[in-house]
Amino acid sequence: MKEALIQYGQVIDPRMMVAPPDAAELEVDPKTPGLDDADYMARRRGIFDLTRQHRLNRLEPPVFEYTPEETRLWQDVSTRLDELHQKHACGMYLRAKRDLAIMTSVVPQMGHLSERLRAETQTHLVPAEGSLPYRTFYEYIAERGFPVTQFLRHPSHPEFTPEPDMIHDCLGHVPPFMDRDYAELITLIGKAAATTTDGEQVLMLKRFSWFSIEFGLIEEAGETKVFGAGILSSTGEIPNSLFSREVTRRPFVTEVVVNTDYDPTYMQTNLFVAPSLPFLRQEAEALVRRFGLQVG
Ligand SMILES: [Fe+2]
Repeated sequence: MKEALIQYGQVIDPRMMVAPPDAAELEVDPKTPGLDDADYMARRRGIFDLTRQHRLNRLEPPVFEYTPEETRLWQDVSTRLDELHQKHACGMYLRAKRDLAIMTSVVPQMGHLSERLRAETQTHLVPAEGSLPYRTFYEYIAERGFPVTQFLRHPSHPEFTPEPDMIHDCLGHVPPFMDRDYAELITLIGKAAATTTDGEQVLMLKRFSWFSIEFGLIEEAGETKVFGAGILSSTGEIPNSLFSREVTRRPFVTEVVVNTDYDPTYMQTNLFVAPSLPFLRQEAEALVRRFGLQVG
């Protein structure tokens, strides 16, 4: 019998990794700011219902008219992030953000960004009501789609959201999809995670993805730069990831990475630095071969 799997420091049932639940109603993290703001919660429920309906009917991301308050929040956070990106993001990300014309003045429409990605790397964005269970999430990625949220965090805490929102998705995940190696890397992980019936393999793929796509650092011309979405979308994580003495930064060694647990609810203290995106793509291919998975 297989040993129990550990995720976020807790023992988990391996079946959860391959047969995830699907929440049909908005469930928010208890730490979400704005829980007692009735207008905010009504807006969240409205966006949840519409994006879920579009996802289940395989439609494009709906167009939202963002309110002046939402627009102000976007302007505030995206401007502060942009200053940090110019200094610390990797070149691939900066080029992609410019080419996608993501601006600090207007909240972008995911549908427009999706059209552009489709033309560049044959990937697209899938409207998502919230963070989807890992396996469901990667089933979309296997089909070259990336699930994105379209709601914004509560304005009382512009720098904090316990669950991914559209600032995280749009400024963290979307731009790297303009890069061919990145698009192929994530598609391969998606296909492998959606194919395997082994919960431990799903967990290992999830960790590979966490320490690259979500919280990866990368070498660039002798400097360490940021490319993980969780870092790029957080004004706290960018300096923390590069300069904090509390953080260990080790070379990306796949065998170590896939056996390293993490806790998504705290600032990250354990990061890995990849030499390049083609390296990560090759490492993911080798891992999938080692698992014996047939993915085209
Ligand atoms: Fe993310």
